Amino acid sequence: MKQVRIKSPGTVANLVCGFDILGMALNEPYDIMEVKLLDEPKVIIHNRDNYNLPTEPEKNVAGVVFLSVMEKVGGTVGFEVTIEKHIKPGSGIGSSAASAAGAAVAANHLLGNIFSSDEVVQFAMNGEKLASGVKHADNIAPCILGGVTLIRSIHPLDIIHLASPDLFVTVVHPQIEVRTSDARQILRQQVLLKDAIKQWGNIAGLVTGFMKNDLDLIGRSLEDVIIEPIRSILIPGFHEVKTNCKEAGALGGGISGSGPSIFMLSKEEKTAKAIESVMKDVYNKIGIDYNTYVTTINKKGVEIL
Ligand code: HSE
Repeated sequence: MKQVRIKSPGTVANLVCGFDILGMALNEPYDIMEVKLLDEPKVIIHNRDNYNLPTEPEKNVAGVVFLSVMEKVGGTVGFEVTIEKHIKPGSGIGSSAASAAGAAVAANHLLGNIFSSDEVVQFAMNGEKLASGVKHADNIAPCILGGVTLIRSIHPLDIIHLASPDLFVTVVHPQIEVRTSDARQILRQQVLLKDAIKQWGNIAGLVTGFMKNDLDLIGRSLEDVIIEPIRSILIPGFHEVKTNCKEAGALGGGISGSGPSIFMLSKEEKTAKAIESVMKDVYNKIGIDYNTYVTTINKKGVEIL
């Protein structure tokens, strides 16, 4: 029987100023998926975790990705998957993208890699659509390709893989619920030209910083004048975390994806660990439970184990 075991990483979408167009893969946390190729057209889903995600294929992020692959290849293949999630759903660190990207990469592997990486991203985006109502690829692309990615366009798909410096990433996940669909709905549909000018200056600066390995330029460019002022209202302690982390030496950071997680980049591991303590202090003081991760940028993306 053909089967594969894969590791699918968490991701930080947006990278502060690049709403829906920038993302970065993390070495921690990650999900594990075991996928078998079936010789009949059905999808069977088992959960090996406590998140109680739906096992009906049409309601499951990985399930809809398998269904879209099956529709494309026709014939009589199917998939049986066991999902072991470590990336908590609703955390803002790409939980749904990890399931969707993992399913797409595993299916392609089991079918003999018949699809291009753009096609694999397209399949995975069907899962993201189910999870958030919108087909965005800023978690999917870095999850599949690793490193830092720029989504220049979705229609047609144009993904640019950027260089990723050896930075440390500290993430805090306050245990509150922020649904991506809600965090998208509260955004304004118009932006002021003066804000747009600041934002595209920062995006260009951030991309240049990654390409030139200019860590201070990366830090200066981690500024968001459009999305963060609105979404940060949903995250208790956000401004305190950001201010205190920068004082403790972080290059910069902000909301991870649509939140509630917050991420910070640092040049050195000892700074990243000091920042973890700063984040813990804020949430201990407020009295909200949290998880933290001190990790690095994942350069491989979904990995076949
Ligand atoms: N770019 C998306 C957003 C990522 O910020 O809404 C969340 O899935």
